[in-house]
Amino acid sequence: LAKVEISLDAVPEGKNAVFEWRNKPIFVRHRTPEEIAREEGVNVSQLRDPQNDADRVKKSEWLIVIGICTHLGCIPIANAGDFGGYYCPCHGSHYDASGRVRKGPAPLNLEVPQYVFKDDSTVIIG
Ligand code: FES
Repeated sequence: LAKVEISLDAVPEGKNAVFEWRNKPIFVRHRTPEEIAREEGVNVSQLRDPQNDADRVKKSEWLIVIGICTHLGCIPIANAGDFGGYYCPCHGSHYDASGRVRKGPAPLNLEVPQYVFKDDSTVIIG
């Protein structure tokens, strides 16, 4: 499928759900106010792949990324690791709740796919 429609009502606050798009896992994370504040407050000059949180999300409550580690392509585990986001068990890459790499061998942040909000509770990926 070129595009996939996701209902956000199925993803409660604090949870990360996995969908599929073009045979890739898509992580949809309903971020808590604490997570949003933490990620917006990160000093990006310290990051390996410096990106502001605001440049990675369209709405601060929703992080949408491709769930493929940028090291060698394993699927990271949600809500694990040292930075409150994702952890890749293959070689120990840690990502934050903005999907930015913070530790380990991954060279880049988790990729943000093309998407649009169709309405407040529906996202179209692709
Ligand atoms: Fe994720 Fe190597 S594939 S750390």
